[in-house]
Order: sequence, then C-alpha cells, then structure tokens
Amino acid sequence: MPDFSHLILTTHRLSLRPLQTSDAEAMFAIYSDPEVMRYWSTPPWPSIDEARKIIGQDATALPEGKHLRLGIEIDETGQFIGMCSLFDFDQQSQRCMIGYGMSRHHWGSGYMHEALVALINYGFGELGFRRIEADIDPRNTGSAKSLQRLGFVKEGHLRERWKVGDEISDSDLYGLLRREWTHG
Ligand SMILES: CC(C)(COP(=O)(O)OP(=O)(O)OC[C@H]1O[C@@H](n2cnc3c(N)ncnc32)[C@H](O)[C@@H]1OP(=O)(O)O)[C@@H](O)C(=O)NCCC(=O)NCCS
Repeated sequence: MPDFSHLILTTHRLSLRPLQTSDAEAMFAIYSDPEVMRYWSTPPWPSIDEARKIIGQDATALPEGKHLRLGIEIDETGQFIGMCSLFDFDQQSQRCMIGYGMSRHHWGSGYMHEALVALINYGFGELGFRRIEADIDPRNTGSAKSLQRLGFVKEGHLRERWKVGDEISDSDLYGLLRREWTHG
C-alpha cells in the first residue's frame, strides 16, 4: 500500500485529508456524543486523549499504508465534521472494511455520502480493491441507509458479535463489489 500521509481527496463541498494535531478538540466533540456513538464499536470517548491517541497512531500508520483514515472538512467553512476510513486490508483477496462517523449537527446533508463516494472511488481505483465490507449494528438505520444508498448489499447477520461496554449486539454485514459500483 502507498504512503497515505499526504493524500487529499476532494469532492464538490469537502476535503478529505489526514488527521492533524489541531483536529483533537473537534474530534473529541464528535466522538464523545452518546448519540453519535450509540452503535459504535467503543463507548463515547471519555477524554480528548482518545483523539490525541488516534492522531498519533495515524502519524505512523498512514506513511506505512497500514490503514487509510481521513478527516472530513467542509471547504466553505474549514469545519472538521467527521472521519471515514478503509481498514483491515487483505491484499491477496483485494478487500477491506469501511468505517465512518460524523457530527450530529451535519446529519441529513449528504456530506457523508459525498465523502464515501470519494473514498470508495479511491479504494476501487488507485488501491485496486475488489470488495469493500461494512459491519454495522442492525439497529443503526442511519448507517444502513448510507450503505444502501451507495449500493452495498446486506449479506449476513451475525449474532452477538460485539460487546461494547456491557451491551452485547448483533452485526449486519454488508458488501460492495467493484463490478457493481455505479458512482465511479
Ligand atoms: C451514518 C451517518 C454518517 C449517516 O449520516 P447521514 O447524514 O444520514 O448520511 P449522508 O451524509 O449520506 O446524508 C444522507 C441524508 O442526507 C440527505 N441529503 C441531503 N442532501 C443530499 C445530497 N446532496 N446527497 C445525498 N444525500 C443528501 C439524504 O436525503 C439523507 O437523508 P435521509 O437519511 O433522511 O434520507 C451518521 O448517522 C453518523 O455519523 N452516525 C453515527 C456514527 C455511526 O453510527 N457510524 C456508522 C458506524 S458503522
């Protein structure tokens, strides 16, 4: 995988770019919100240290092409509104997973759809993936709609796959194939 540390993906309204130290406060505001984190794979972040930890991890992971996580910024205002990522790369099978989360104040504006189209185009194009997978809580209807809008197909239901805090939850697995991708 290439060095992602200088990658910038642009869309009509957004720039997707690696995390910066100055993003920590905005990240913490988003990922400490219980509504945003209701179906996330971790509880809401207890402190800004979680943001700093992720920024630090990416400073070494992105140059090595270990995963691709990008911050999402609105061009017009410079506001940081969330993150999206490709991870769990399986190079032999040309597949990976996708993840995303956005500030509650920006839900319903199509920003994540726009960001994910750019990220998936990059994944199927430059990175040569053949298949992208998502694992979501079946109760996460907002996320399911986002995936379906992109053409992901629900392929499976896994019982009691996660334990987050004290809560055990199932997973729906979604898949999107490059040969099915129509937004490219
Ligand atoms: C998942 C999540 C990013 C979806 O956010 P979202 O705002 O619904 O998604 P989008 O940015 O794609 O916007 C789509 C919505 O904007 C509307 N919209 C407005 N303008 C639009 C445009 N130009 N293009 C597409 N959609 C547009 C759509 O109609 C849609 O609204 P609807 O769901 O009421 O039909 C958000 O709910 C979230 O961050 N959740 C918490 C984190 C999380 O659970 N992540 C997934 C874990 S697996």
